[in-house]
Formats: sequence, C-alpha cells, structure tokens
Amino acid sequence: MRVVVLTGAGISAESGVPTFRDADGLWEGHRVEDVATPEAYEAQPSVVQAFYDARRAALATVEPNPAHVALARLEAALGDRLFLVTQNIDDLHERGGSRHVHHMHGELRSALCRGCDQHVPWTGDLGDFPPCPGCGVAELRPDVVWFGEVPYGMDQIQVALQRADVFVSIGTSGAVYPAAGFVQFAGRYGARTIELNLQPSEGTEYFDDARHGPAGVLVPAWVDEVLATLEPA
Ligand code: APR
Repeated sequence: MRVVVLTGAGISAESGVPTFRDADGLWEGHRVEDVATPEAYEAQPSVVQAFYDARRAALATVEPNPAHVALARLEAALGDRLFLVTQNIDDLHERGGSRHVHHMHGELRSALCRGCDQHVPWTGDLGDFPPCPGCGVAELRPDVVWFGEVPYGMDQIQVALQRADVFVSIGTSGAVYPAAGFVQFAGRYGARTIELNLQPSEGTEYFDDARHGPAGVLVPAWVDEVLATLEPA
C-alpha cells in the first residue's frame, strides 16, 4: 500500500504552534501577505527577518504531539511506501521521529542564500544579516516558500500522488494551492482520499472520507487502522 500524507498547520496546533487562518485571518498579529511574499521582503527585510527569527526561536518552546509521533510509527511500518509532505516550516515531524519529510514550503531551520542559491542549515537569527558560510555574501533569507514562489519538489510530489493508493490530508484548511488541489489530483489517479481536520476544510467534498476532530486523536487512530490492515491478526 502506497500512502501520501499531506500535513498543514493544524497538525502542530496542539503543540502550541499557531495556525494561519484560525485567529481573525492573522498570523501572530500579521497579515500573511505582509510577511510571506518576496515583495514584503524587498520592502522591509528587517521586519520579515525579525518575524521569522521569532518563529525560529519559538521552536525551542514546542514539542511534537501524538499526531506527529503516530506518523513516525507509520513510516517505520511502511518505509518508502509512505511519502510525507508538509506545508509546515516547523521541525516537529522530524522531532516526532519521521526521517523523510518533504517540506514543500521550506523550513525555519534553514536559510537560503541569495548569493549562491545554497540551502544552509540555520538555527540562529538572520536579522543581523550574517554572511553565508558558503560564499560569504550577506544575503541569507528565510528558506521559506512565499506566495508567488514555486513550492519545493513539485515533480516528486506529483509522482507520489499518481502512485498513491491512499491520500490523507491532515490539519490544513485547503485554502492554499497547489497543496489544496492534491486531493483531486490523487483521486483522479485512483487514490482513496481521507481528510483528518478539526473542521471541514474548503475542499472537504472532494474527499471519500472526512473525519473531524483534533489531530492528536484522529491521526493515531487512523494510523492504528492502517497498521491493523498490514499486520496479521
Ligand atoms: N487538529 C486538526 N486540525 C486542526 C487543529 C487540530 N488540533 N487545529 C486547527 N486545525 C485545522 C483548522 O481547522 C484549519 O482548517 O487546521 C487548519 C489550519 O489551516 P491554515 O491555518 O490555513 O493552515 P494551512 O492549511 O497549513 O495553511 C497553508 O498557507 O499561509 C500559508 O504557507 C502557509 O503553509 C501555509 C499555507
């Protein structure tokens, strides 16, 4: 059985990471467009760097929850038959035990050098515009895919969706493309599609099965179901 799991901010909500669209459409008091576009960065680089520096520092204050841990159990059972793609830029899947995580919107703990195009592991601040360890140019920006930029690894994602027997969407509002379109794409290629979300997403009608509740409850239960189908009774 080949499974593609897509996760969004909702899977990290019970860990204490705020979602994007639950609080008046604001993200930590900012409109997403004001901190998550290349234009915002060009206009006010210090403001954008300070915003992501705060998010990166906040990672030290949160822990993975049972939903992240359950997906690591699923990976241990399925190996490379699981393709885990996340829109999240936090590192809670990795800290929950997942070894292969496809971060389609980038990662907080990485910087992107505008001088040499390298992705540089980064845990500190970028707001003081440090030089790139590779090329020495002081052009490190958050390694985050902003609105108007192309998500990472779309070719790999497309292949995984085409081959999937099951597609599961967890904790995402279905408001942002291309991820919001994965359910229809996978469904057209024959996958059974399942939504696990606190409330119906914008695309809930496209799923074969939609279950609504907290990820910390729904995801471990779903993983147990899958594992039961793999193990002999
Ligand atoms: N369990 C499950 N789902 C939850 C929980 C929870 N405990 N808490 C909230 N949710 C759901 C909400 O109901 C909502 O549908 O998670 C979803 C979060 O939606 P968004 O805030 O829109 O986050 P996401 O879908 O990941 O956003 C997509 O938008 O701003 C961009 O690049 C950013 O990756 C992000 C993308």
